[in-house]
Amino acid sequence: MWIPPERIRFDPDPGPPPSTEEAARSMLFSPVDIGPIALKQRTWVPAMVPWRASDDGFVTDRVLAWYERFARGRPGAIVIEATGIRDVPSGPLMRIGHDRFVPGLKELAETVRAASGGETRLMIQLIDFLSIRRRPDPKKYFERFLRVTDAHRAALGAEGWSEEAVRDKLASLDDAELDAILAPRELEALRLGYRERVTDMDLPHVRDLPQVLPGLFADAAGRAREAGLDGVELHYAHAYTMASFLSATNTRDDGYGGSRENRLRLPLEVFAAVRERVGSDYPVGCRFLADECIEGGSHVEDAVRFGVAFARAGMDFLSLSRGGKFDDAKQPKVGEAIYPYTGPSGYECMPSAQSDAFGPFGRNLEATAAVRAAVRAAGLETPIVAAGGIHGFRQAEEILQSGKGDIIAAARQSLADPDWFLKLRTGQGEGIRHCTYSNYCEGLDQKHKEVTCKLWDRTHLDDDPTIVKTADGKRRGVAPPIEFGVDRAGKATVGAVQAPGRAGTPLIGP
Ligand SMILES: Cc1cc2nc3c(=O)[nH]c(=O)nc-3n(C[C@H](O)[C@H](O)[C@H](O)COP(=O)(O)O)c2cc1C
Ligand code: SF4
Repeated sequence: MWIPPERIRFDPDPGPPPSTEEAARSMLFSPVDIGPIALKQRTWVPAMVPWRASDDGFVTDRVLAWYERFARGRPGAIVIEATGIRDVPSGPLMRIGHDRFVPGLKELAETVRAASGGETRLMIQLIDFLSIRRRPDPKKYFERFLRVTDAHRAALGAEGWSEEAVRDKLASLDDAELDAILAPRELEALRLGYRERVTDMDLPHVRDLPQVLPGLFADAAGRAREAGLDGVELHYAHAYTMASFLSATNTRDDGYGGSRENRLRLPLEVFAAVRERVGSDYPVGCRFLADECIEGGSHVEDAVRFGVAFARAGMDFLSLSRGGKFDDAKQPKVGEAIYPYTGPSGYECMPSAQSDAFGPFGRNLEATAAVRAAVRAAGLETPIVAAGGIHGFRQAEEILQSGKGDIIAAARQSLADPDWFLKLRTGQGEGIRHCTYSNYCEGLDQKHKEVTCKLWDRTHLDDDPTIVKTADGKRRGVAPPIEFGVDRAGKATVGAVQAPGRAGTPLIGP
């Protein structure tokens, strides 16, 4: 992961926790409407892929255990990880592209309902993505993958040569020579791995995305409703298909690229199809970028326009993220795929403790506040979900009180301590295990390994044979029960946090 060159170290700074009375009076623990439904509180666990689905995209016991653990902390909402809308093999990414995925998702909905005593609303993030290949071994690239063209022959003066001779010649050239001969996309395929873009109009399946995607998203949303999930979040953020349509880098010439209005066209058509399928009594929102944080990308001026358009179209919530693009990602190793969270825009998405002078906390807030202000100025009350380095009650409350956001999303803090919202609410904030923004979890995500937190994944690992472990048995699969806290000085507070009943039972009854 890229780190700002200043490398200034920031420690978690959550401030003092609230008393029970203060929490009861707070905005954070007050209800908010998400279109047709209410959240009991403004706390939200945003989508996080934990790599626990089966290889064919089904909910597994480890998926159930993962979400059950978050549900015990009783946030207002949990958004299930990015889940693929197509019925195509996608590795261990969760999928919803066929009716056969519905029973597993139904079980997941029931699990979260039971573990949260019905307090937590469960939504699912729906994603589409384009094809991407691993960085090839250069020898194989020249032997097999590269399509030899007349341009190569002309550049090499190799008009009469056999294809094999051209391939051999290209394989023998150094980087500077290749720079002069290969086209930019060929160089990219060689050095980073081949990657499709929404602007590849020569590829029929890419050209036809506007015809295909509304139906695919609508079918997926229909399945989410059938499974008993409480709503859907359309993934219009980061490096994936829908974000690429919104991006200022989208130059499609078919009415779906170029101007902001054209870039918005497909996201709005997808939403319209979803709305038509699930009806107006079912929450539908989206996650999109307040800033792509790449050269030539969309910035906050775009995001405010997108936000107003989505709100006006009738979305029930808008969740704002930041960065996370392929465009500035680090070169992967041979045999690995490029990952969109490894460059400066990736840092903006998941900022770590080593930072620049601004630091890792609340980097997306000003842009989020600008989107919210524009939505309110347009006379719309759509709730705005704020995220990025939020880990303290006072920080969260200030965001809400000052009108920068309406709902507080915390991904890594919730991973570090899934009970943190509950501890804050019940006057036990001293026992919160605070995220140190190490991005150890993100490193696991990048390798598609089961995501865990370094603060707890070896805690009391061997004490209890019944604990859920990662598939290799080497780490805890979910955070330890509520009793095992760590105070702000890093001291274990085992047993200090009172939990009635057996380990891990919620502090408050259903
Ligand atoms: C392991 C991991 C997986 C993530 N997966 C997703 C995802 O599936 N969809 C998404 O929109 N964001 C994803 N994110 C980004 C988070 O939702 C969140 O926006 C980001 O971590 C910043 O918030 P935080 O500082 O509270 O962690 C992921 C983050 C982590 C750490
Ligand atoms: S591994 Fe744990 S402490 Fe480190 S960033 Fe992830 S959640 Fe935070």
